[in-house]
Amino acid sequence: MSSNLKFDATDRVMHEERVFSPSQDIIDNANITAYMKTKGFSDYSEFYKWSLANREEFWSDLASELHWFQPWKTVFEWTEKPFFKWFSEGKFNIVYNCLDRYIGTPIEEKVAYHWEGDDGSTRTLTYKELYQRVNQLSAALQKLGVQKGDRISIYMPAILEQIIAVLACARLGAPHSVVFGGFASSALRERIVDCEAKVLITADGNHRGGKLVELKKLADEALLDTPTIEKVIVAKHLGTEVNMQEGRDIYWEDACEGIGLDTVVPCEELDAEDMLYILYTSGSTGKPKGVVHIQGGYAVGTYATTKFVFDIKPDDVFWCTADVGWVTGHSYVIYGPLMNAATSIVFEGIPTYPAPDRWWQIIEKYKITILYTAPTAIRGLMRHGTDWPAKHDLSSLRLLGSVGEPINPEAWIWYHEQIGKNALPIMDTWWQTETGAQMITPTPILPLKPGSATRPFPTIEADIVDKDGNSVGHDKGGFLIVRYPWPSLMRTIYKDPARYETYWNTIEDVYFAGDAALKDDDGYFWIQGRVDDVIKVSGHRLGSMEIESSLVSHPAVAEVAAIGKPDELKGEHVKVFVILKNGFEASDALLHELKLHVRTNVGPVAVPDELEFVASLPKTRSGKIMRRVIRAKELGEPVGDLSTLDS
Ligand code: WT7
Repeated sequence: MSSNLKFDATDRVMHEERVFSPSQDIIDNANITAYMKTKGFSDYSEFYKWSLANREEFWSDLASELHWFQPWKTVFEWTEKPFFKWFSEGKFNIVYNCLDRYIGTPIEEKVAYHWEGDDGSTRTLTYKELYQRVNQLSAALQKLGVQKGDRISIYMPAILEQIIAVLACARLGAPHSVVFGGFASSALRERIVDCEAKVLITADGNHRGGKLVELKKLADEALLDTPTIEKVIVAKHLGTEVNMQEGRDIYWEDACEGIGLDTVVPCEELDAEDMLYILYTSGSTGKPKGVVHIQGGYAVGTYATTKFVFDIKPDDVFWCTADVGWVTGHSYVIYGPLMNAATSIVFEGIPTYPAPDRWWQIIEKYKITILYTAPTAIRGLMRHGTDWPAKHDLSSLRLLGSVGEPINPEAWIWYHEQIGKNALPIMDTWWQTETGAQMITPTPILPLKPGSATRPFPTIEADIVDKDGNSVGHDKGGFLIVRYPWPSLMRTIYKDPARYETYWNTIEDVYFAGDAALKDDDGYFWIQGRVDDVIKVSGHRLGSMEIESSLVSHPAVAEVAAIGKPDELKGEHVKVFVILKNGFEASDALLHELKLHVRTNVGPVAVPDELEFVASLPKTRSGKIMRRVIRAKELGEPVGDLSTLDS
């Protein structure tokens, strides 16, 4: 068990005694009810118990609803523990399941995406149109020399070309690596270099909340030092003049020149275990981890959760507000909804621009039925009061969702009362970049308790354990673990399998990815937050070391410690403690300069809210900064074991 976990899980939890039970009508009509019936169950607890003993049957049932070029031979196998495979020897392509199988059926005329721009402009793509655009770009990529296995980085705003780009890569079996458009150039460069991308797909620029982002300029800075990039495709979104490097850069429309919309590039018939994408996320070292997801199992996991948790029906209009740059966007803006033939919304802007009712206006306009968002957004909108949502007709909504961080009961209740009009269930879904799909989550048939992610999804054997892996039972805090692999779990960390293994050996033989939690008497899980050096700011995941290494690259800085502090709006915010080099004086000007330094090096999400100049920091005898101790002191909590402290 590693010693750097920042606190031992406690029994502290906000128990909210209120229970919200679903109506009989919801229970009767839920997708999960229909499936449970086929297995002879009407009660979730009984069904869940069955699913633990019949994992392979459950997942094969769901996998059978997708199209396979060739069926799998083995449902699950450990290759070399903790490495494993699902659906071995199955031949598959996730894009076939998102698009091709609808062509020639009435679904091809259905809207796949309604897009709404920051400035109010709109665009719609039907399944057929999306299919055509994806094929066209796949052909263009092939013309540029892209082949199965080549990595493609995507650095784009929330426009439909971002989705087209993702699907065009997956169609060819060329793993995509989407980098959030809000990251700075050096973060983009680091990710391109790590995955050795051959092509970058980007855009000229975009607006968010009325502010201009010069994306191509940022990309150009990153590209100063990315030797593997051969071509850069630039989508014209703003239509502004941007630097185009001769021989390297090509506009999207020029890359597609001469490729008609009737062009078909057959889906590559891939192995179920072939790589679908790499998505970088923060861990406890300075270097982001390239989480690897694969074609088959990931598809089955995102398909199944979208179907059962969001309970997608043919007439639903689904809005997951996440950016495609994060895993939530991969799984629930793109893959899960498309495999369920849903109509989705993509919004380029922010909730409060031009006014704090922008979201409510969008819900009314598109008659959205399912809204999936983050607690931080709810808390932000709460601040503007109840008049804004009250101005709009939100009666189309039937289901709400939450993700990214624990939702505090106050925010849950506001969401339930003001947006859900006291009637709609809220799916509080706990999962991670690594898990690929939702793990601890209600389905619409479960009674809800505000602040609890409720119970594990079928087959997910989650538990609360102590450091040695022993179950702690009910109402005691501990580490949240899962005992057995599921189809959508990451397969490895790109080029760093040892780092993947740490998920399975920090606590022996179980999957542990850093959260503390507690299970109540009803078996409901209450997530308490990260216990490692991951900081969750507005639901975004940052590593202490990433912020620290960015700051030590500034000439004035000798040493830094970054910690997360509880924040009413953001969940957590970053505080850094800085030791200056000899000859540098603490000043307000330097403080601002250092914050700006983080902004331009990592990105706006990582900028510390608090920065304190200090003379020393607590360290172990081997020289490691003890963030756990700093955090405890800062929050006035017990500092715990100090036996390794140097001074
Ligand atoms: C971490 C994973 C899940 C996709 C987006 C974030 C926290 C996530 C919840 C929730 C409490 C949550 C955990 C987890 N988290 N959802 N419903 N309740 N905490 O993915 O960036 O990989 O972060 O987010 O701490 O470990 P991520």
